[in-house]
Amino acid sequence: MAKHTIGWLPGDGIGVDVLDAAKIVLDRLALDAAYVPGDIGWEFWRAEGDPLPPRTMDLLRTVDAALFGAITSKPNKAAEAELAPALRGRKLVYRSPIVRMRQEFDLYVCLRPCRSFAGNPLNYKHPIDLVIFRENTEDLYSGVEFSPVPTELSDVLGRLSKPFGTFAKLGADDYAVSCKVNTRRGSERIIRAAFEFAKKHRRRKVTVVHKANVVRATDGLFLETAREVARDFPTIEMDDANVDAITMWLLKNPNNYDVLVAPNLYGDIVSDLCAQMVGGLGFGCSGNIGERLAVFEPTHGSAPKYAGQHKVNPIATLMAVKMMLDWLGEADKAGQVEAAVGAVIQEGRVRTYDMGGSATTLDMARAVADKLGVPARA
Ligand code: NAI
Ligand code: MG
Repeated sequence: MAKHTIGWLPGDGIGVDVLDAAKIVLDRLALDAAYVPGDIGWEFWRAEGDPLPPRTMDLLRTVDAALFGAITSKPNKAAEAELAPALRGRKLVYRSPIVRMRQEFDLYVCLRPCRSFAGNPLNYKHPIDLVIFRENTEDLYSGVEFSPVPTELSDVLGRLSKPFGTFAKLGADDYAVSCKVNTRRGSERIIRAAFEFAKKHRRRKVTVVHKANVVRATDGLFLETAREVARDFPTIEMDDANVDAITMWLLKNPNNYDVLVAPNLYGDIVSDLCAQMVGGLGFGCSGNIGERLAVFEPTHGSAPKYAGQHKVNPIATLMAVKMMLDWLGEADKAGQVEAAVGAVIQEGRVRTYDMGGSATTLDMARAVADKLGVPARA
């Protein structure tokens, strides 16, 4: 039996291309692993009414880790219109398969490291070395949403909240409600993960991202919890920033920051901003990490316009592979992947379109595979 069992979830569009690239590098590393393919994405919504079928959930219960490409998703009306005729009228509700994986397997840490590679033509004017910890299971992504708003809810809102007293006159279709739900436990464990990481990797500071001055209940809880957790880590500095202000400060002085921790939505937004500073969507990698399972992915979507063209940059995915190898306890192989990616970027001979070149996704993967074993970057 192979040492590791890895769920293999290409998904839609360029998800397929970038996982082909990942396989080239993993094969060259000769990782002792079995790769078990799983169904996920739009095709399964259309044909079966479920973009994450139960068989894929069962598969994820048996693997050590999974690599996920990307999926396509569409707004409600389009989603309904594309369902197979036999499924229409069954009141099926599309739910993001990624959010579901995160919630059902309790993958509560979304880890997004953003570090610039020397020689990348897409680098920002400052060198970047930021690590984002995004809470991954609750907040505005709780999935507790109402559209149309049921009368039970509009009655409660009308009774409990002054502004909603006037809303109560609105019809059920005239407004919608998405609930931002943040628990003390959910906040504590992501904040603790950020501090533990900072301690282990000798980072100097953890910045808590919030909007507690306005979103007082939920973000107030997050910030208060952070202050409590910080007491257990006296050697690590903690500061905090409003989410709007930090987007500006990150652009101006990114080196004032180190490790960032944020509730789900702010973490999603801030990590895309940070990804842009290290080269854009072709460079943003992500780990969805729980106690037992972790799912690694590039942060980009399925980019339908480039589907099947083998044109996009696989580096985000190769760095997700690096993260996956670390999680599997294969630190040496993880270091090799990172060093090889760094060497290819530094050399600058093989570049995909986003980096100003014309190499294909697979050219880039082969170039990285050829560099495996080179010494790591400092
Ligand atoms: P996207 O991330 O798929 O692509 C936006 C644009 O970024 C692309 O058109 C391309 O120009 C560029 N890009 C993306 N990945 C790249 C790469 N590896 N190398 C070079 N350039 C790259 O976002 P978009 O177009 O907003 O969404 C397309 C679909 O993906 C939608 O259905 C959306 O719902 C879904 N999506 C899925 C995500 C996931 O699976 N994790 C995340 C974001 C969007
Ligand atoms: Mg995102």
